[in-house]
Amino acid sequence: MANPSLLILPGDGIGPEVMAEVRKVITWIGENRGTTFDVSEDLVGGAAYDAHGTALHDDTMAKAQEVDAVLLGAVGGPKYDNLDFSLKPERGLLRLRKEMDLYSNLRPAQCFDALADFSSLKKDIVAGLDIMIVRELTSGSYFGEPRGIFEEGNERVGINTHRYTESEIERAARSAFELALRRNKKVCSMEKANVMEAGILWREVVTEVAKDYPDVDLSHMYADNGAMQLVRAPKQFDVILTDNLFGDILSDCAAMLTGSLGMLPSASLGAPMDNGRPKALYEPVHGSAPDIAGQGKANPCACILSLAMALRYSFDMGEEASLVERAVEKVLADGVRTADLMQSEGETPVSTSEMGDAVVAALTALA
Ligand code: IPM
Ligand code: MG
Repeated sequence: MANPSLLILPGDGIGPEVMAEVRKVITWIGENRGTTFDVSEDLVGGAAYDAHGTALHDDTMAKAQEVDAVLLGAVGGPKYDNLDFSLKPERGLLRLRKEMDLYSNLRPAQCFDALADFSSLKKDIVAGLDIMIVRELTSGSYFGEPRGIFEEGNERVGINTHRYTESEIERAARSAFELALRRNKKVCSMEKANVMEAGILWREVVTEVAKDYPDVDLSHMYADNGAMQLVRAPKQFDVILTDNLFGDILSDCAAMLTGSLGMLPSASLGAPMDNGRPKALYEPVHGSAPDIAGQGKANPCACILSLAMALRYSFDMGEEASLVERAVEKVLADGVRTADLMQSEGETPVSTSEMGDAVVAALTALA
């Protein structure tokens, strides 16, 4: 059988640094677990713009459609702030999501024991936290038409359209229910059915889908209340299902509960390909962090944990996925900290590559 294939798109800012550490883990898996990946690498975001004048070259897009999974670092940076909207680094990422039809974005927010003190919330509110946000990723306000800035009378008007079809809601909902079955069997769906028709439809469709999952307990919440509940009592949630825009905001909120954005991975999944694997793109939640890029300060754990999600969801390597996750946990428990995880002055952070080495050493110790 052919080796599983992985396209790596390091992108901008800290993307390339954290991805270098992921490569160490990929190498370790090849040497120690008998799975060698065919890894190719390409450009996305500002890096692609610098080379090709576009945030995603057509050839890269085509490659992304062919591989078993894509692993992306981050896109964006102040250098590109003044570019025309259509050329901005983010457009590369949005094109990947749209053309690969990655409708289900999984964003786990898990609080590692060793890091419970880092949350801006009290320790007992976040200790042991383990929630999964399922964010619809290919529709809603991000993509709805009409959109644009138009002339209207003597002024301009900015328009985006919050649009959802029943089938778009249904497939996102199904992926949330499927996940819930493998977790604590609770789904909380968030929208604004009190003010938006699309929210009313969302609620109806989700309620209908729930009938196929009698073992899953479904609740509904207005998204603003959801934001409040996330910071008031986050452990009430298991799986949160929500749309593209609310999901963008709620997932940042949930992420911060865990103390550091530097720890959080994500998976964006689409329909199964011919080989049965879902179309998939994995990326850390943290973004390009241009302020610390190139200084060896970045925490590679989120990107390493994104690889773990790829092992689990794309490559049927659940055992290796857990191993990588336990290695990261061990490293944290041993007190190894990158700069984002410093608690008091006087502590000495490890560098990005030292963190990667520590994870690889932990893998060897645990295997
Ligand atoms: C995210 C990011 C993206 C989004 C940006 C980079 C386009 O914030 O993945 O949450 O808004 O979806
Ligand atoms: Mg976001």
